[in-house]
Amino acid sequence: MRFHSRSPDATQAAAGLLAASLPGDGLLLVLSGPLGAGKTLFAKGLAEGLGVDPEAVTSPTFAICSEYDLADGRRLAHLDGYRLESAAELESAGFLDLLVTGTIILIEWGERFRDALPADRIEIQISRPDETPTHRRLDAVASGPTAARALAEWGSKLVGEIGRQPELPEEKDG
Ligand SMILES: Nc1ncnc2c1ncn2[C@@H]1O[C@H](COP(=O)(O)OP(=O)(O)O)[C@@H](O)[C@H]1O
Ligand SMILES: [Mg+2]
Repeated sequence: MRFHSRSPDATQAAAGLLAASLPGDGLLLVLSGPLGAGKTLFAKGLAEGLGVDPEAVTSPTFAICSEYDLADGRRLAHLDGYRLESAAELESAGFLDLLVTGTIILIEWGERFRDALPADRIEIQISRPDETPTHRRLDAVASGPTAARALAEWGSKLVGEIGRQPELPEEKDG
């Protein structure tokens, strides 16, 4: 699914709608894109949608992992893989302990450690398609049944509440 964001607020709002589409038993979200793409801003919007004060959400580049208890008993874990050299370092940071029912995991730069990640996940790639400073393109792909259900629900909320039809990704040659 492809979605165009025209402002920081729109990215946060879109992330809030994803928060409202997540299952009760948790899900893994992988955010990729260059520095300044909007991964941490997306994490703030997701956290806000889950009832966490977005001011409390900062880039966990140095902490590697920040965890938040949600009012409904779930947990949100926000990780930043930027400074990690290997999947082994990700595991040393306690990643395996997060893979329990009821934990929503959002990992920035997680695409660097795909082999170490659970298969059922949503990957969201954020890019800047042109020179417009506030334009971002979000391409989201689900792998696995839980992720696919959440992505479908997110897509329909984006259409319904933001009123912009998400585009289908362009066909890739070959
Ligand atoms: N449409 C947009 N969506 C997200 N961020 C945007 C957008 N337009 C401008 N920005 C700015 O881009 C920056 C994104 O920073 P950040 O979320 O920390 O990026 P990352 O975590 O990917 O390095 C913020 O300063 C934000 O205000
Ligand atoms: Mg960041």
